[in-house]
Amino acid sequence: MARYQVFHGPLIHCLGLDQLEIIENGLIVVNPDGVISGLVKSIPRQSVQQHLTSLGLSEPQYDVYFLERGQFLIPGFVDTHNHAPQWAQRGLGQSMHILDWLDKVTFPNEARFRDPDYARRVYASCVDGFLQQGITTASYYGSMHAEATKILADLCLEKGQRAFVGKCNMNRNAPGYYRDATVESSLSDTRDCIAHMRNIDPEGKLVKYVLTPRFAITCEDALLEGLGKIAKSDPDIAIQTHFNEAEQEMSFTKTLFPTFDNEVDLYNHFGLLTKRSILAHCCYVSEYELGRLKDLDCGIAHCPVSNMTVGGGFMAAPVRTFLQRDMKVGLGTDSGGGFSSSILDAMRQALVASNAREVMSHGKDKGLSIDEIFYLATLGGARVCCLDEKIGSFATGKEFDALLIDSESSRPGIMTMVEEQDTMKTIFDKFIMTGDDRNIKKVFVRGRQVKS
Ligand code: GUN
Ligand code: FE
Repeated sequence: MARYQVFHGPLIHCLGLDQLEIIENGLIVVNPDGVISGLVKSIPRQSVQQHLTSLGLSEPQYDVYFLERGQFLIPGFVDTHNHAPQWAQRGLGQSMHILDWLDKVTFPNEARFRDPDYARRVYASCVDGFLQQGITTASYYGSMHAEATKILADLCLEKGQRAFVGKCNMNRNAPGYYRDATVESSLSDTRDCIAHMRNIDPEGKLVKYVLTPRFAITCEDALLEGLGKIAKSDPDIAIQTHFNEAEQEMSFTKTLFPTFDNEVDLYNHFGLLTKRSILAHCCYVSEYELGRLKDLDCGIAHCPVSNMTVGGGFMAAPVRTFLQRDMKVGLGTDSGGGFSSSILDAMRQALVASNAREVMSHGKDKGLSIDEIFYLATLGGARVCCLDEKIGSFATGKEFDALLIDSESSRPGIMTMVEEQDTMKTIFDKFIMTGDDRNIKKVFVRGRQVKS
């Protein structure tokens, strides 16, 4: 019999940017479908049983977990941008510029995913690895191969990760051994993957397709046009691409599309900018582009690690500007270009990069706070993926994607350390800035425990 899961103790989540809520004595009731069916913000431990009885729940129907000092629940992390086939190449080609890194490191590596057995092995490790890091939702670029991409989607579903999965569309400016043969084959492989995902998860409860033109450089006009048509015929479909990542990439894009002054006009011309678009990087954005992206309600995947190590022009993106305009911003590990698959690392790097930006802007773009980087990794990312009505914070009716954090320092190797006088906020700050996956004791997606 499926059971209710009940948690009592500290709950920490964001209600908005810089609106961290710490609930010291919270109670969450998760129904057998993985949905939060009850949330009480202040209830002493000894009243929990009585409360459950008042809800009509009796002992064999539920399991109660009482959190100890140093433990707390947070929403699962959302990784709005990463590359599953780059899992095994993380950390390679650091400090190379983007087009050189693609040619020399990434394309030869991704070409290996033509072999479904290899794909299954690397993707299984990748999905497990992200779940270990508390990434309950990921937006994945696959390789260009339809078969491997379907395997990735199967694995996300099987292992219980919420995911967007897309086959990379790329029919030019990539080696002959690693590019779509024709526009039509690229589009038919895309339709094939969409059909597969509708088949394995008809309601898109966990796994959904995301249209993935790698970037304009690798797509002929007709391919972008074909993808735009799919987007138009299916307004619920997500779209992702790399956007204004680096000077090298932007200037080559201009030579390929001389009629467009900027990438907003380019992608928008092909119908690829919608409220479901997830644009990675956005390191350089003009005033005009800012206005258009805000009007089009596109989401931004801020990738602070790769921005400063691979390809990103070694640039701290203007995140404060995006946030001041209430644009949708989340974090991406961009793992492999990013050397780390840990979103905690991405959060810290976002903080560091924002401080650099504060200096660069002579104090105009204020650095991000710990509460703000936590927002980006949770509710901000959920907004980018248009999932904020489902996940990203704790509320009755939302699905239970959550992490049980244990800051206790008694186990060897645990990074954070709780002292007697520490407030909940202190414990939380220590975890965000010094914790790692060893402190992530349990991971839940839709109520299912996916790491223990
Ligand atoms: N632009 C096109 N492809 C890629 C990629 O794989 N990683 C990054 N960082 N940028 C890209
Ligand atoms: Fe990327």
